[in-house]
Amino acid sequence: MTALLRLSEVTKTVRVPDAEPLTILHGVDLVVELGERVSVVGRSGSGKSTLLNILGLLDSPSSGVFEFEGVPVERIAGRARDLRRGADIGFVFQQFNLLSGRTALENVTMPLLYASGRRFWRRRAIASEMLERVGLGHRLDSVPEVLSGGEQQRVAIARSLVRGPRLILADEPTGALDVETGSSVIDLLEEVARDNGAALVVITHDPAVASRSEVGYRLDAGRLSPVSAEVAA
Ligand SMILES: Nc1ncnc2c1ncn2[C@@H]1O[C@H](COP(=O)(O)OP(=O)(O)O)[C@@H](O)[C@H]1O
Ligand SMILES: [Mg+2]
Repeated sequence: MTALLRLSEVTKTVRVPDAEPLTILHGVDLVVELGERVSVVGRSGSGKSTLLNILGLLDSPSSGVFEFEGVPVERIAGRARDLRRGADIGFVFQQFNLLSGRTALENVTMPLLYASGRRFWRRRAIASEMLERVGLGHRLDSVPEVLSGGEQQRVAIARSLVRGPRLILADEPTGALDVETGSSVIDLLEEVARDNGAALVVITHDPAVASRSEVGYRLDAGRLSPVSAEVAA
């Protein structure tokens, strides 16, 4: 079976004004299958967000091969890449990035404005079902300003997952939450990923979050290596 994501020898080098080019990722090899739950730990500055942006088709590798469902991503043209990102990938960030002054329902409806046919016409019903699923059926009309951090992250998750992505990418999703709220947010991500048969990649500096994944990696100064089960336990 074709892997959902396959990276071979992927590097990322950026040009910095008046300095040598900076290599952020070195020879990254990674395979992610549909339905798999993967974590990547690493300290600040190790390249985690750079890797996540590449996995999410927001950024491109400088060298190496990255295949999304068997297709090298450099062969997916800009417009097709945007469509694929919208349909197949859900992002969850540390900052919730909700539109202020808009209700939870309006925020979650937003991604469905790009849907077509029945999903477009049913968008409010689909969005409220999704908010129901994240435990916020009673807060449909609340704006982010009156919601707690944990509730805002649930709205953000509902918005990211309302189109049923096959790949869920979370960058420090618990970074702005207390331990208990963070743990329930991870429960929720795992539950939605399982129900949808999606792959879940969680990037975190929190070992407790990382230890919950099936497959663990560590990123150290741009080099990715598997974390063995004994070390993770
Ligand atoms: N576009 C860029 N230009 C220059 N430096 C960058 C750029 N993107 C990231 N970096 C640097 O690369 C390193 C890794 O960044 P990042 O992927 O954000 O790490 P992490 O998410 O693990 O904290 C950092 O030192 C950061 O400053
Ligand atoms: Mg980061």
